[in-house]
Amino acid sequence: MPRKILVTNALPYANGDIHLGHLVGYIQGDIWVRYQRMRGNSVHYVCADDTHGTPIMLRAEKEGITPEQLINRVHGEHLRDFTDFGVGFDNYHSTHSAENRAYAEDIYGKLLSAGFIETRSIEQFYDPVKEMFLPDRFIKGECPKCGAGDQYGDNCEVCGAAYAPTELKNPYSAVSGAKPVLKTSEHYFFRLSDARAVEFLREWTRGTNTTGERRLQAEAANKMKEWLGEAGENKLSDWDISRDAPYFGFEIPGAPGKYFYVWLDAPIGYFASFRNYAERRSAAGEQIAVEDYTDTIRAEAQGTELVHFIGKDILYFHALFWPAMLKFAGYRTPSQLCVNGFLTVDGAKMSKSRGTFITARSYVEQGLNPEWLRYYFASKSNGTMEDVDLNLDDMIAKVNSDLVGKYVNIASRCAGFIAKRFGGKLGGVDPKATAEFESAYEAATIAQAYEERDYGRALREIMRLADLANQYVNDHKPWELAKQDGQDAQLHVVCSTALTLFRDLTLYLKPVLPALAAKVEAFLAIAPLDWQAGWKPLPAGHDITAYQHLMTRIERKQVDALLEANRDSLAPAAAAAPAATAKTAKEASSQQRHAEKQQHAAQAAETASPHISIDDFTKVDLRIAKIVDAQHVEGADKLIRLQLDIGETDDAGNPKPRQVFAGIKSAYDPASLVGRLTVMVANLAPRKMKFGMSEGMVLAASDPDGKTGGLYILSPDGGAQPGMRVK
Ligand code: MSP
Ligand code: ZN
Repeated sequence: MPRKILVTNALPYANGDIHLGHLVGYIQGDIWVRYQRMRGNSVHYVCADDTHGTPIMLRAEKEGITPEQLINRVHGEHLRDFTDFGVGFDNYHSTHSAENRAYAEDIYGKLLSAGFIETRSIEQFYDPVKEMFLPDRFIKGECPKCGAGDQYGDNCEVCGAAYAPTELKNPYSAVSGAKPVLKTSEHYFFRLSDARAVEFLREWTRGTNTTGERRLQAEAANKMKEWLGEAGENKLSDWDISRDAPYFGFEIPGAPGKYFYVWLDAPIGYFASFRNYAERRSAAGEQIAVEDYTDTIRAEAQGTELVHFIGKDILYFHALFWPAMLKFAGYRTPSQLCVNGFLTVDGAKMSKSRGTFITARSYVEQGLNPEWLRYYFASKSNGTMEDVDLNLDDMIAKVNSDLVGKYVNIASRCAGFIAKRFGGKLGGVDPKATAEFESAYEAATIAQAYEERDYGRALREIMRLADLANQYVNDHKPWELAKQDGQDAQLHVVCSTALTLFRDLTLYLKPVLPALAAKVEAFLAIAPLDWQAGWKPLPAGHDITAYQHLMTRIERKQVDALLEANRDSLAPAAAAAPAATAKTAKEASSQQRHAEKQQHAAQAAETASPHISIDDFTKVDLRIAKIVDAQHVEGADKLIRLQLDIGETDDAGNPKPRQVFAGIKSAYDPASLVGRLTVMVANLAPRKMKFGMSEGMVLAASDPDGKTGGLYILSPDGGAQPGMRVK
């Protein structure tokens, strides 16, 4: 019996670009879907943009457009990114849609009747100028613990302390700069602390999917135990699901001026996208009623499965709020959560200043092949919640050696002979050589690894087979057979066998490399490969087409250009905070704020004055420098060559001044500079100039457009010594 599965990926926020971190989970989801379809299972695969909330509202306002215009634009960008990376959703919808409003209202209404909604007054910071309540990320001030200025309302980036926004000293609104005031307002809560919810979640956690695989990965199940506590314990708090106007979202029925919090309607967007898909297909004249589809989401019946791919930072929402909401609104609950870890690049958080905060768009625009990344991410995926490291050198090595060196190499070494010597027709195949490739055991081993999302294991097994195929070619040396008389028949068999092995490898790789597999299907002139029919031997006499280049090698310089294209020298060092999954119940309750923070971070940085963090500032190594020599530079009309003592010495202990070319000739006579103290940037990357190396920079003041021509180098107060740090 084929399985019926609705698969979803987390809905990306509609206020940011898709980056390589996002792609980890989307590629994992897409591979699984393609694998399931190759097995003959019936899969619907949907996603959407997550469009509601304060950051999107403010971002649109800042761009001078409506939120609808903003989300329409981003929708197109996101869809294009996913398409370019082969992430083939059946439908890419939006949470700002009629379907989503209808489902959100229905679920809310049912929760209300079931006694799961409660109202309570809470006190929150309010921006009196902007006339809106402020999410934590839009409140800044001094850290209550260490006093550092310019910290966000939920935690301090200098000392790491976590606190409530009301604890900040001298708080101000990052939206208007105004001093926020405390204001009371009525909020709606989902009663997650209800004993029925806790009991249900304990039960749900223990479940399995239809193949008997556990609903939650081991690490996720452990998190659930921590969040839920021991039997009889109740550690869950109620969930605040309303926000006051102005807010971009859905107004709560019967509660004017109150809106559903973005995370209430976000996961409902999975259903909305599915419903929209069903309606489009029905409208396109398919002989299937919308209800036949949407029964999937009405009840657990019919053995249909609901599988969510998400990142670990949003586990809390998907493992607690979402199943509980569904359960008590009378909807089906998720069958399985597939949770991915966070992406690091070369062992560190993605960083805008290092250029490792790589957008999907830039990757494509720099001409890198998306299937290189799919292959690499797959090779690093093992079905757990562990973080995934993109090691750029390792990616280059793996793609070049596995895909180009092993896999493509088989076809490129044999295809030419078929074309030139045998009129493009295959001959007989050596069944001994193909036996292991096509054995039920081998297929099951690889299938099992795909099923468990241990793609790394699947690819290791496939590469073992690729080694065997290359061994076969090496042992039979078609290039030598081609030179010998009377070996034509043998040459024909060897090349046809090798291409059959290549076909088998392609079948196994197809979930990971759909575009490459399509090229191979065209080259071999065969029907789309699937797990069932894939093994039929290619008959002798089968015509193949001319071999065309299948995949090029990655060059390091392409990767360097990619980093360069993403490097933002003005960016704060830590751009995307890899989120942790909450360890304790207390941490868990702040998890909500944490996930929200991700969405707000980029926006807040833009809305507030263009601040940098103290860490950014301390990256600049400023030193007191003594000008020990100053000379005109032959052939340069603006430069003076300075020798600057910042207390550095050579190996023998002699003073070793830095050479700096400074563009100050218009304002200073070199002789007048010698002996003066000034301030230099000591850790600027050395730069080779026409006249020699420049090993730093001196600081000088000038008017912004250089109109007055005045130029003034800085001097410290008396007493400062060469080499002293300026901070
Ligand atoms: N809008 C929410 C999800 C709502 S689902 C009903 C959201 N959006 S997001 O744009 O921040 O993230 C989208 C997905 O990408 C999430 O699964 C998130 O965990 C994942 N990732 C975002 N950054 C990531 C990395 N750096 N590494 C791995 N996954 C990452 O969360
Ligand atoms: Zn602090």
